[in-house]
Amino acid sequence: MVVGAQWGDEGKGKVIDLLTEKVDFVVRFQGGNNAGHTVVVGEQEFVMHLIPSGILHSGKFCVIGNGVVVDPGALLEEIESLKKRGIEVDDHLGVSDQAHLIFPYHKALDKLREAKVGPGKIGTTGRGIGPCYTDKAARVGIRLADLLDDEVFRRKLKLNLEEKNALFRSFYQAPAFEFEAIYQEYCGYRERIAPYCINAPVILNRAIQEGKSILFEGAQGTWLDIDHGTYPYVTSSNATAGGACVGTGVGPTQIDQVIGVVKAYTTRVGEGPFPTEFPPVLMEQIRSKGKEFGATTGRPRRCGWFDAVLVRHAILVNGMTEIAVTKLDVLDDSPRVKIATHYRLEGKTLEAPPATIDRWNQVEPVYEEHPGWLTDTTQVSCFEDLPPQARRYLKRLEELLRVKISIVSVGSKREQAFHV
Ligand code: GDP
Ligand code: IMO
Ligand code: MG
Repeated sequence: MVVGAQWGDEGKGKVIDLLTEKVDFVVRFQGGNNAGHTVVVGEQEFVMHLIPSGILHSGKFCVIGNGVVVDPGALLEEIESLKKRGIEVDDHLGVSDQAHLIFPYHKALDKLREAKVGPGKIGTTGRGIGPCYTDKAARVGIRLADLLDDEVFRRKLKLNLEEKNALFRSFYQAPAFEFEAIYQEYCGYRERIAPYCINAPVILNRAIQEGKSILFEGAQGTWLDIDHGTYPYVTSSNATAGGACVGTGVGPTQIDQVIGVVKAYTTRVGEGPFPTEFPPVLMEQIRSKGKEFGATTGRPRRCGWFDAVLVRHAILVNGMTEIAVTKLDVLDDSPRVKIATHYRLEGKTLEAPPATIDRWNQVEPVYEEHPGWLTDTTQVSCFEDLPPQARRYLKRLEELLRVKISIVSVGSKREQAFHV
């Protein structure tokens, strides 16, 4: 399994792409098209939002699990755009019939809610993710299997619209949604999505029995997890390792390796606490060198130093067995690099993260400083060839995190990474 150990965008797509060669199935288990996983193959860049990044390798089967919230329009667009670029999709993709669907009213609610709260907003991607998971938990959600049954679909859509339209009209003073328009739009999707619809737990567990291997592709990251993240500045799903079991129907006894992905520094898109965030000049330098702009919304990412408190806790709650460090090359020009080893709060040392946002906003990171390597690492293809200061930086991370670094990435291309 590959999961993010920070606030998303750690380079999971790149790591998944590297590992896909060795597996038979690649499976997304949570999130939706709020994700943007970039894979660079030769001169071509692919940004995957819903379809597992494994689709770019031929001969693999990709699954969108029940834990994912699916915007059918976005999914079909992604399928078409991959096909146009010569990627085979049709016999290589399955979508769980239990996956919940995103509707136009979810996207509208997402945006209206953010606008209404103003400065206290979360900074969501506006893709309707939160409202769709809200309906799932409220047991009024519409799943793919419901869409395939016309009578059920009509009934559930009507019920949902009654309640939502009342909210739009009275609370948000926004236009209501017409049943017929949504019904027709989704009936159009029905025929096109039906061929991909599968009973995912049956297919995945059968594959395991046949000795096939499965790679679980996490979206977002540990600190955006609804339970373990910087709540309420999180997404609405379990982006941590446990989410893979509930989000696919594969039991925990089947999972034997959890790889956490981290950047050699830290980034975050959207609002919420970020103790090691850079001051403006450094922010600008690293953002431009690392091309830190969101793969989904294009928003500039906030950047900061590596935070070992965050990643240590991520290793703990995910049971990570190793980590992959990406974007080491982005620090190539930095004369000094810093790592936050712990926090200070009210005169006390904190080794673990605080429990409330107020406390999060008050913690002061305590740094150790290391000399930079001031050497181009983008052509390096093994650990021993890294400049000594870069090796020392990685070794120090291993010491602080108490897990092994098994992959290092030094550029966006497939070949710019190596196993350690
Ligand atoms: P994900 O959401 O975790 O898959 O990450 P994103 O794709 O949103 O963001 C990672 C960005 O960094 C993408 O633009 C990647 O092409 C790029 N990237 C990945 N690994 C490296 C690396 O080692 N060095 C550099 N310079 N870029 C990288
Ligand atoms: P990948 O898979 C980075 C952030 C949003 C916002 C918060 C809630 O590419 O790492 P949402 O739309 O999910 O309700 O927004 O979560 N967010 C991400 N940040 N990478 C992602 O995905 C993200 N998906 C959501 O910016 O702060
Ligand atoms: Mg991303």
